[in-house]
Amino acid sequence: MRIMKFLLLAAASAVSLNTAAARPAPAAASASLATEDPQVLARADALLARMTIEEKVGQLAQLFKIPVLPSVDDKVRSGQVGSLLFITDPAEANRLQKIAMTEARLKIPLLFGFDVLHGLKTIFPVPLGMAASFDPDVAEQAQSVAAREARAVGIGWTFGPMIDVARDPRWGRMVEGAGEDPFLGAAMARAQVRGFQGPRLGTPGHVIAGPKHFAGYGASPGGRDYDSLFVSDAELYNVYLPPFAAAVDAGAGNVMSAYMDFNDVPASASPRLLTDILRGELGFKGWVVSDANAIHSQVKQHFAADAGDAAVRAMKAGNDMEMALLAPAFATLADSVKAGKLPVETVDRSVRRILAAKIAMGLFEKPYADEAEAKRVLADPAHRATAERAAERSLVLLRNEGGLLPLAPGAHKKVAVIGPMADSPDDTVGPWAFVYDRDETVTLFEGVRDRLGRGASVQTAAGVQLARSFPSGLEMFQPPPPAWTAERRATEFQQAVKLAGDSDLIVLALGEARNQSGERASASDLRLPGEQIKLFEAVAATGKPFVVVLMNGRPLDLTGIVDRAPAILEGWYPGTRGGTALARALFGDINPGGKLPVTWPRSAGQVPIFYAHNRSQAPETQAQRYYDQPSSPLFAFGHGLSYTSFRIDTPVLDTPELKPAGRLTVSTTITNTGARAGDEVVQLYIHQRAGRASRPVRELRGFQRVTLAAGESRKISFTLDEASVKYWHSEERAWVIDPGTFDLWVGTDAKADLTTTFVVGGAPRTVAAR
Ligand code: NOJ
Repeated sequence: MRIMKFLLLAAASAVSLNTAAARPAPAAASASLATEDPQVLARADALLARMTIEEKVGQLAQLFKIPVLPSVDDKVRSGQVGSLLFITDPAEANRLQKIAMTEARLKIPLLFGFDVLHGLKTIFPVPLGMAASFDPDVAEQAQSVAAREARAVGIGWTFGPMIDVARDPRWGRMVEGAGEDPFLGAAMARAQVRGFQGPRLGTPGHVIAGPKHFAGYGASPGGRDYDSLFVSDAELYNVYLPPFAAAVDAGAGNVMSAYMDFNDVPASASPRLLTDILRGELGFKGWVVSDANAIHSQVKQHFAADAGDAAVRAMKAGNDMEMALLAPAFATLADSVKAGKLPVETVDRSVRRILAAKIAMGLFEKPYADEAEAKRVLADPAHRATAERAAERSLVLLRNEGGLLPLAPGAHKKVAVIGPMADSPDDTVGPWAFVYDRDETVTLFEGVRDRLGRGASVQTAAGVQLARSFPSGLEMFQPPPPAWTAERRATEFQQAVKLAGDSDLIVLALGEARNQSGERASASDLRLPGEQIKLFEAVAATGKPFVVVLMNGRPLDLTGIVDRAPAILEGWYPGTRGGTALARALFGDINPGGKLPVTWPRSAGQVPIFYAHNRSQAPETQAQRYYDQPSSPLFAFGHGLSYTSFRIDTPVLDTPELKPAGRLTVSTTITNTGARAGDEVVQLYIHQRAGRASRPVRELRGFQRVTLAAGESRKISFTLDEASVKYWHSEERAWVIDPGTFDLWVGTDAKADLTTTFVVGGAPRTVAAR
């Protein structure tokens, strides 16, 4: 039954698995890829010369290998498939690879791909959480460990990082990316590509990075996943492309095209996106894979007449490989070439790119995973330590009235950890985690219990059950538990409230179940799902001291909670060591220093809401744009508290003018004025006062996370250059720089108020994209 449901879902939709300082725009030339090495290309060409058209087309097919689908063995044997996805067992990868290497005519190794988005066995915080660290190094380290684990089991390519800028939290996939800001997004994209891929494609212990989804997928109207969307050129260039430009500059070997219609053309068939922009302007040299079944979907989207038409148009547009569940639309390409509908050179070009990647990855020499080594790598305790640190860095202290946090470890003898997120390993790791070790995952309850040891009695109760059914067919991997009966619901609720009443401290763990966040998990209401508000009210009514810990993949509507919960710690989905990291933060072993990578709305009615908007004609009434609620967000982009306090000095410039091709250094001193060590993320925003276009009221152009001991001061500086002030002008259809006065702010969130100005010199000009 479940298999049927899965296949139906898969057929009926575009299925997914239905189965630092960064620059705002590309500045450097694209990193040269190992796939551009003349020797690699010569080898690819020699092989290409021996291939039949059917074998060539086979290399363009990537098929799912999952238990519910028919065997792919014959397709591997006959050279009808070049890549498989969803295999995480090295023995199975080796079995299939052996067929390719010994039974297929040309012995071209398979390339195994998988969604290693935030870890394989060791799970790191979800990407939105990693972005909250404002620490690209942490993301790089995490993804490098993820790559090591993936490579060890035979995976050579990850469908990540996901780098879609997302400004509407109703869109479930916000959790997979770095949030709303293109500058932060570019820094995180660059770091993750480096982490996954290493300095060069083919680096041992690393995998090919496949940033996705090209492009503009995050602009889904109403947050509805897969919906067709319209993106202006100004938004495309200024908002959605910078992370991709950064990923390409970092040398990403692959890019995944997006599902949806982009300005009326499916992204996987858009010559403008895939050829003119991705290759022509961003300088991408790798190969493009479609999203799952996206070529077939072009027919469903009423764009292509049939699978053959879709395949030809996707290929012509620059989509080299098709990810497909069952029969690839690209299987029609051999006939299309024979019928003269597609030049064989177009097929050759794509095959060459894929062969070059396989050669550069060393797959011809080392096609098999070492199963014994894989076991050792997956068990490496250093990986768990990296996950713990990443989780610690991602925590954001949203609220802490009266300094309730940190809690004194010895002060509470009876502690209750309550709520649906309290002791749920699945929700601790979050979406896009499949083969993680449940037993090794430390839940919040376990983390608190371990932290307090014998000093306290720590108990847990879920209180409420959240809806567990995956909207995307993912139940196949994890069947949802049976829904509680009405009777059980009442009992569990009462037990939790009684436990709360019997305790002297309550940690209330609320949020979204992991299936309520991610692909196809759009929400029209951002309030806590299920009966969590009722649970919150019952716990608050006990009068016992309590703190709220959130695990979620998007900002939530905290109406009724934010004003009554004295302390709120945002944990995102913190990963394998999430509970340990959270407990250490709650009891003051570490000091949370993460910041919001997304503006936090008061309610769904405010979204999309983001800090980098243009000024309206009535800015003075901006705060009252809604008659029923303020139009300001609940928490600003960049917000995050600390257990200590900081002072930042007014920024000083080394020169008042940014000259053409020049640089300007902004310096300030930050001092930890509190009594304990802590982290602050110093953020730099700029604003162009006048020019050929209205520009956002603020744009992030620098950030630095610093750790300071109590009383310690540090001078920090940021460099601005032309890339910091250029923007895409929709009417000029060019990157431009407007001379004139710019405001500059330095501070600890998007409301930063330490300000000065600088002048951009020279004449109004256009500048090269790179
Ligand atoms: C669909 C998703 O959109 C994409 O991000 C993912 O990589 C593929 N499915 C494969 O799971």
